[in-house]
Amino acid sequence: MHQSDEPPSSVHTRREFCVRTCQAVSLLTLGAVVPACGGGSTSPSSSAPALPAVAGSLTSRTLTINIAAGSPLATVGGAAMVTVSTGTYLVARTSQDAVTAVTAVCTHEGCGVTGFDGARYVCPCHGSTFTTNGAVVQGPASSPLRQFPATFDATTNVVTISV
Ligand code: FES
Repeated sequence: MHQSDEPPSSVHTRREFCVRTCQAVSLLTLGAVVPACGGGSTSPSSSAPALPAVAGSLTSRTLTINIAAGSPLATVGGAAMVTVSTGTYLVARTSQDAVTAVTAVCTHEGCGVTGFDGARYVCPCHGSTFTTNGAVVQGPASSPLRQFPATFDATTNVVTISV
């Protein structure tokens, strides 16, 4: 009587090993993919450049920003954020003699909207985008950013916002 090369139990064990290894590899692969998916939940658009900050001064409920040469608001199409005691505001230079001002508080879950893709404000939390007038372009936010009356005096280069 001669011995077989391998007892049946050995073959079974090897198969089990292979199955388990394959499962482990699959899980590792999933593990590598899942964080990427989690990171993706903030949407690619949330990686918009951060708005530059500018200084402003608040007197009563009037926020004043002096636009110096080189300021992001010195150029039509530029935008910036300004923070004072009443909150943070997003200001955009929409024409030679006009600006808009909206709150930086996202209407979705209250994150600070800090991104600007060159045309639209972008919330970093879930990727909502808004026009410079605060209108929703892309959700999940469904309500516009609150807008505040704002003027720009092209003679004095001063932005005035009623907050
Ligand atoms: S809090 Fe801004 S998109 Fe969710």
